[in-house]
Amino acid sequence: MAELGFALIGCGGMGRSEARVLRDVPRARLAAVCDVSQGAAIEFGAEMGVSAHTDHREALAREDVGAVMVVTPNGLHTEIVLDAVAAGKHVFCEKPFAFTVAECDRMIAAAEQAGVRLMVGHVLRLLPLFQRVIDVFDSGVLGRPVAAQITRIGWLGDPTARYRLRKELAGGLLYDVTVHEIDLLHRLCGATQSVYALLDNHVQKHVDYEDDAQLLLRFRSGASGHLFASLASPMSASFGTIVGQRGTLRYNHGAGEITYRRVGDGEESITETVTRSDGENGYLRELRSFTEWVLDGKAPLLTAAEGRAAIQVAEAAYRSASTGQPVTIEE
Ligand SMILES: NC(=O)c1ccc[n+]([C@@H]2O[C@H](COP(=O)([O-])OP(=O)(O)OC[C@H]3O[C@@H](n4cnc5c(N)ncnc54)[C@H](O)[C@@H]3O)[C@@H](O)[C@H]2O)c1
Repeated sequence: MAELGFALIGCGGMGRSEARVLRDVPRARLAAVCDVSQGAAIEFGAEMGVSAHTDHREALAREDVGAVMVVTPNGLHTEIVLDAVAAGKHVFCEKPFAFTVAECDRMIAAAEQAGVRLMVGHVLRLLPLFQRVIDVFDSGVLGRPVAAQITRIGWLGDPTARYRLRKELAGGLLYDVTVHEIDLLHRLCGATQSVYALLDNHVQKHVDYEDDAQLLLRFRSGASGHLFASLASPMSASFGTIVGQRGTLRYNHGAGEITYRRVGDGEESITETVTRSDGENGYLRELRSFTEWVLDGKAPLLTAAEGRAAIQVAEAAYRSASTGQPVTIEE
């Protein structure tokens, strides 16, 4: 039975978590870890029982490595993905794919040319609650989404992931966090046609990027959307309202609750509780899908094109915020 050997590039919080999840993916095997911090690489390599490297090119040169998980700070994804593709390795890249559409296009073209698989880990929509929101809309009971409002707020203190303090490595709030919600809206409403954005830094003066984002989106389907993200709220929340042609759904991720009501149902709403342990772990699903795509050619749950679409909106939103004008997204 064919196996896929992985190298983990970036042994921080997320990389370690993904490497542990990989243990539960059939036919996937961690072969090596890499981190520029020698201490992190050696410690985590010892925990996982695999060799440790401090230069990703060493890990890429290994014959027992067929694929890599790129879980480094956001601003380093492109260089490492391109090196991995050039070495003929399949790539699972964490979100955000990159900071510009041009970088996304370079990576996608290079992967196509090299004949390797490239996936971007937009896991949010695979988490049980969001998967349920998608399933409700896919079932058609509420009709097609026509308007949506999503809020995701929290506090950026002194994060354990230090890269989050610098725009050069984090990219900004839209790249580090909001790409998840943009991707969710794309799954529900289809591609974005235009975006108008207000981005401000009101409170978190120790970071050199926005701590507040308001995005108004028009989708090609005709639907409209509003995204509100903040890193300056001591109250954390992640909730949304999606109005369909035949009913409305509200979700609250923290509470694990989805409520929806169809037109004609009077005051009757359906409320469902969806806890994190309901359904399958989204992180396991994405890595299993990636492995099955590489080994069996099975259609992937997430694609690089979707990762690019989220970056296209984020990049356009930064342009809108700097010009004060809505920006149209090219098809
Ligand atoms: N999908 C999700 O839900 C989710 C959640 C958290 C983080 N992430 C993403 O995962 C990535 C990592 O985030 P994190 O929270 O683990 O950050 P982190 O700072 O905890 O870890 C990053 C690690 O990468 C290492 N590193 C830096 N440069 C490197 C290089 N050139 N080669 C090898 N290692 C290098 C750092 O030393 C650090 O150990 C980011 O892209 C982030 O956006 C995704």
